[in-house]
Amino acid sequence: MNKALRPAVIAGNWKMNKTPAETSALISEIKPLVANADCTVIVGVPFVDLSEALEAVKGSKIGVAAQNCHWKESGAFTGEISPVTLAGMGVEYVILGHSERRQYFGETDRSVNARLTAALAAGLKVILCVGETREERESGITAEVVRKQIKLALQNITGEQLKNIIVAYEPVWAIGTGLTATAEQANDVCAIIRACTAELYDNAAAQRLTIQYGGSMNAKNAAELLAQPNVDGGLIGGASLVAADFAAIATAASK
Ligand code: 13P
Repeated sequence: MNKALRPAVIAGNWKMNKTPAETSALISEIKPLVANADCTVIVGVPFVDLSEALEAVKGSKIGVAAQNCHWKESGAFTGEISPVTLAGMGVEYVILGHSERRQYFGETDRSVNARLTAALAAGLKVILCVGETREERESGITAEVVRKQIKLALQNITGEQLKNIIVAYEPVWAIGTGLTATAEQANDVCAIIRACTAELYDNAAAQRLTIQYGGSMNAKNAAELLAQPNVDGGLIGGASLVAADFAAIATAASK
């Protein structure tokens, strides 16, 4: 982290977990534990839990994120959710381009760019996920893969809009596997993302960009990962479902 340059952000991605009632309960548990955290704290909940989450975070600084949104404001897209609807509810953030969306639901760099453009236009802030698969890492093409994802996702996004984007580097092989990138691996790729952003915009924009690491981050390994200069926070799956563990990560980011 380099808090002099950019805010530290700890976000939970709850994925397809928790009912509305369970969402209220877990946020109530998290709330006092992160009350003094010196970092931005966000919970990313399922769509149908958003109302409860927005209600439950009242009186705290916890932000609420959706886990996806469509690229149109409205229309004949059965089962989809508009970014305008999310913004209208009071949702502040949306996670886009998660590897599970890319892997299981056919998301492409192109559709991620379209969703991101629409989300920003609706006034949402975006957590943009990128990351290589195990095969890509073993083939030595991590940098190319991540640079391509960043360049295509940010196509036609202005420097001004970039201020509303957080990037999450999530190596696919580390997600939900218990395998964590080493602190050095995480820092190296976050640095590649920052350098790529400097090429696309300028150095000031790149230095302002918060880049999270995600992939089996937990209460034990968070401090070491967050001590890296280019790792500005975490996007946390499994450990974000346990209040004490999630809070411990926020505490590590408060140092
Ligand atoms: P885990 O922390 O469960 O590995 O999930 C990471 C992730 O995908 C967050 O978006």
